[in-house]
Amino acid sequence: MKKPEVAIVGAGYVGLPLGRCFAEAGIPVVLVDVDAQRVAAINRGESYVEDVPADVLGPLVDSGILRASTDYDAVVDANAIVVALPTPLSANREPDLSIVLSAARELGKRLRAGQLVSLESTTYPGTTREEVLPILAESGLEVGKDFFLAFSPERIDPGREDWTVKTTPKVVGGVTPACTERACAFYERVIDTVFSVSSPEAAELTKLLENIFRSVNIALVNELAQLCDRMHVDVWEVVEAAGTKPFGFMSFKPGPGLGGHCLPVDPFYLSWKAREFDFYTEFIELAGKVNENMPYFCMDKISRALNSQEKAVKGSRVHLVGVAYKADVGDLRESPALKLIELLRDEGAEVSYHDPHVADLPEHGLSSVDLDGSVDAVDCVAIVTAHSGIDYGELADKAKLVVDFRNATGRNGSANGHVWKL
Ligand SMILES: NC(=O)c1ccc[n+]([C@@H]2O[C@H](COP(=O)([O-])OP(=O)(O)OC[C@H]3O[C@@H](n4cnc5c(N)ncnc54)[C@H](O)[C@@H]3O)[C@@H](O)[C@H]2O)c1
Repeated sequence: MKKPEVAIVGAGYVGLPLGRCFAEAGIPVVLVDVDAQRVAAINRGESYVEDVPADVLGPLVDSGILRASTDYDAVVDANAIVVALPTPLSANREPDLSIVLSAARELGKRLRAGQLVSLESTTYPGTTREEVLPILAESGLEVGKDFFLAFSPERIDPGREDWTVKTTPKVVGGVTPACTERACAFYERVIDTVFSVSSPEAAELTKLLENIFRSVNIALVNELAQLCDRMHVDVWEVVEAAGTKPFGFMSFKPGPGLGGHCLPVDPFYLSWKAREFDFYTEFIELAGKVNENMPYFCMDKISRALNSQEKAVKGSRVHLVGVAYKADVGDLRESPALKLIELLRDEGAEVSYHDPHVADLPEHGLSSVDLDGSVDAVDCVAIVTAHSGIDYGELADKAKLVVDFRNATGRNGSANGHVWKL
């Protein structure tokens, strides 16, 4: 193994693609992760992140340019350490920085002069300076002089191919000007465009603005979808038509609710921090309320659709198509499909599902069932996530009843009496 120049703490959806990016540029990388199974998988060249296929990872591991370790001592030789660890919410929906801060303590014990530490985990403004810096400073080293500390938000969008880690511009804000300079030089080695801001707080808030922007706009169109339902107007047609305006409008699609690690969680990091300043972020709260209600609205729609065929939810067989939180990935985090399964079961429905990216849902005691044979056997098919590679027209033809939350059946769907759309 080549001596690592870069250490990445957290080998998940963010850390592994970033590690790949450095390794492909010929820069030796070590990934540090507490999950021994993940570490072993990487060292065998096996990937659990769809954006880093095994045929890409394998040769990087074989050539000794990328490896993984469960031991924090692996960071000691690196010139730069990137932290890409989870930043969840606690049970009472407050920021839970415990993972990032415990990692900072491990790094602080090993920090040596000349190293750069860059935090990439999404978090509230002030985390880098107020929470991480004091821990690293316990090493006795001085920031901006002996070591360098910056925040640089990750913008990865799992499954996206048109924008990669390398081609997506990277925002960087250091604790001091020297920290910014050092962090920019580090990322410029592999990323096409690096945009510096004057502080880590500005960089932290940039990421939250991006996520809140999406959450609020999705909530807007989700609210409109509920109104359209009452008015018997096809919301998809309206969104598509508005999207023809070449300026001043950006298209967002309605859906069964927000999923993934980011949108359902990150905005609340800011609303929590805002309270310290006697400030209430009402857009964030309202968007959260509308988006969190969507699985309930979808449940109601399934119930009305079954009713139209003189069936009750209780005892009906409902088959969900797509349970991952978005198309063409297997990520289940905060997926609205999981909420929908719960709601359907609470009402006594018999639930099954098909998802080419999710073989099993052990917590629900379910496994993916082939579409052939299941579609025409059930009372209702609900398209929750529209993965590609499924012929939705054929599915709609075969099924007795379809509730389509993604417009997968398109305009033809609406013309078909047994297809209900969001
Ligand atoms: N996934 C995305 O699309 C995305 C996009 C932009 C930003 N982010 C942000 O990036 C951060 C990381 O997200 P992710 O999706 O990569 O998470 P992830 O859950 O996929 O990966 C995190 C990894 O950290 C490991 N880990 C947990 N505790 C550890 C510890 N103490 N020491 C070392 N490793 C530890 C876990 O085993 C896991 O492999 C989050 O703050 C997230 O909000 C994620």
